[in-house]
Formats: sequence, structure tokens, C-alpha cells
Amino acid sequence: MPYKIKDIGLAEQGERQLGWAEMHMPALMEVRQELSRTKPFSGHRISAVLHVTKETGVLMRTLKAAGAEVALAAGNPLSTQNDIAAALANEGIHVYAISPESVGEYNEHIQKMVDFNPDIVLDDGGDLHSAIHSSGKTLGIIGGTEETTSGIHREKAMEKDGALRYPIVAVNNAFTKYLFDNRYGTGQSTLDGIVRATNIFIPGKIVVVAGYGWVGRGVAMRFKGMGARVIVTEVDPFKALEASMDGMDVMPMEYAAKAGDIFVTATGDIDVITQKHIELMKDGAIVSNTGHFDVEVDVKALREMAANSRKVRQNLEEYTLKNGRRIYLLAEGRIVNLGAAEGHPSEVMDLSFCNQALSALYVLENKGSLDKKVIKIPDEIDERIARIKLRALGVSIDALSDKQKKYLSQWAYGT
Ligand code: ADE
Repeated sequence: MPYKIKDIGLAEQGERQLGWAEMHMPALMEVRQELSRTKPFSGHRISAVLHVTKETGVLMRTLKAAGAEVALAAGNPLSTQNDIAAALANEGIHVYAISPESVGEYNEHIQKMVDFNPDIVLDDGGDLHSAIHSSGKTLGIIGGTEETTSGIHREKAMEKDGALRYPIVAVNNAFTKYLFDNRYGTGQSTLDGIVRATNIFIPGKIVVVAGYGWVGRGVAMRFKGMGARVIVTEVDPFKALEASMDGMDVMPMEYAAKAGDIFVTATGDIDVITQKHIELMKDGAIVSNTGHFDVEVDVKALREMAANSRKVRQNLEEYTLKNGRRIYLLAEGRIVNLGAAEGHPSEVMDLSFCNQALSALYVLENKGSLDKKVIKIPDEIDERIARIKLRALGVSIDALSDKQKKYLSQWAYGT
């Protein structure tokens, strides 16, 4: 069987979900229509490690319609939607993803993506690029893509070490990705995950957001909009200043720890909430992470500090500390928007996955001529995606006249 999923009997349910997502991803559907006519990926094999959601399913269908043989594994042990995995397997995509899966199974499934012998590699977080490089099977690979900030950090480190053996397009760094997916997508889906896991009332709560990058600012903005009082913790003076002028309270975590009702980490770094912070938290504090990896909250320390723990409801674990206070951890400290909810809604993934599809195409069309580096998506592709989406939304914009263009390119006329 060219797949390993939870239950193929869920295929019909997954198929209905995929239809719902397609309805809300008009830009990617337009790209699919074009690529299914030209079939540029015919004879090519694409391995992808992405969260197995209905939106990823729409991307996989698009790549298949464009001629590729496609294999897919999960981007996180908790993020697979089992019905989507079933529907895609039923359509001939090589899916290796089960939710929940152990870290061992997760790595086995990534190995399946290596063994698929792809020539194009799509990744979200860098585990697949890293596994392919560790296996030494980089020779036939034309290039790849990277979906997220954390993955780009890793791949830039590979580039710096001289280890990178093929070009990787940094999908994350496109305007049509981070301005929308990282900010509005994560803003909404993180709130969604926290509410689904807890059903807690947001107005009046003190929400601590660690990190004010595009993700953190989206999360802070959405909680503020719901009536929360938002504290931001930062290490970057520019971002801290921005948070402050956006109306957030800014302070170090050791002060925020005492005040917060809900904590969300969004930094991409380790040890953001550690034992010393947990010790200061109020009874009932809710702790979550929306960064890609489960390293931001020191879950191991929390477990060691606890006298006992129990599962209260799905994705909500109660830890009673030796000091008697109860701390509630969501989705095991893993990415809460995908662990406890369904990730970003289709409308925003529409943009992100147009970037994935067109970046894969760019890599293919420029085979052999791109540097073996982490590269930016060309501005023309980024702009094309923005224009496709605007058209799909029924929004039209002005165009510069020749006179305006000329004015912008001269230096003689001032006051
Ligand atoms: N990352 C965040 N949200 C996602 C989604 N809905 N599908 C795939 N990857 C995601």
C-alpha cells in the first residue's frame, strides 16, 4: 500500500472537506487550471512535508493535476487531519500521516518522503531538507521550497555551513505569504486553537504574547480585538517599540509571568517560558505555543515541577505544581493552531500555497541555474499572486500613468 494513514474509510468525509477548501481558495484553483493544461511537472516526483490539512490537500491535488507524482507526510505529530489524509491517499497521493503520531512515527514518515526519491522537495520547518541532506540523497534534486520562518533559519544555517546541496525558495519571505499567513492566519487560528481547547472567555483576560514578529503581532492584534489586555515580551528593541506604539504593554517575561492569564509563545526560539517563569504564574494560568517547534515552553520542566497531572479535555492538560498552583498546557506545547484547531483558514492559505506551487515551478523552470542557497521568490511571482488574489476577491486597483512613472524615476523636480 503506498500510504499509511489512520482509516481509508474517512476518505469521503475528507473529500467533502477538500471541496469546501477549494471553494475558498480561488487563486490556487486558477493556478491549478493553468498548470493542469500545461502539466509542467510531468515525469517529476515531489515529496512534501506539510501539515496535512484540507488546504494542503488542495495544493497536493494541484501538483498532481500539474503532472507530478506526489508524496506527503505531516509537518507535526499533531497536525494531520485524518480524513484529509484518507481522501488524498484514495486519490493516489502517497500519504504517510496519522494523527496523533509519536515522534518515532513522524520521523519514519519523513524517511518515506526521502525514499520516494523526489526531484522537488517542499518543506515546512526544515525536517525534510535536513533528512535528505543527512541521507546523502541530494544528487537528483532540482530544488525545494520552505514554508516557514523556523525552517528558513535552519536552511540558512545549512547554507552558512556550506552544507546546502540544492536551491531552496523561501516561500515564507514572499509578501503574499508573511503579511497575510503569518499575521492574519496565525492571529485567527491561534485564537481558534486556544478557544477550542479551553472554551475560555477572552474579554478582560491578560494575554502574554512572547515575540512581536509577524506571527506575534497577528496574535496580539486579534486578542486585543477580542477585548483582552495584551502584554508583549520581546528582545528586539525595534519590535518592542512597535508593540509599545501599537498599544501593547511591553515587559520582560519574568514580570509578565506573574500577570498573565493566557500565554502564547511566538518567537521561534527555545526556552522562552522556563521553570523560573512557571514558578511565578498564577493558579489557572494557560500556557500555549504557536511557534513551529515545541521548544519555546519548557514542557519537560513543567512536568518535573508537577506533583500530578491529568487530562481535563482534549488538548488541555492540567499540571498541579508542588506549590499547589494549577497550570494548563495546551496541545502538549506544540503548535496550538494546528494541534488544537485546523490551522489557518483556506482563504489565507490560498496565498501561501500559490507561492508553494509557483515556487516549485520556478525551481523546475530554472533547473541548474539557481544558486545552492536560500533564495527569495522573484518579485514578479509574488506580485502575480497578489494580482490573482485581488481578481478572485473582485478587487480592482489603479495603475500608474506614464507621467507618474516618469516622475518617480527622476531626481530633478522637488519643491
Ligand atoms: N500552516 C498553518 N495553517 C495551515 C493550514 N491550514 N494548512 C497547512 N499548513 C498550515
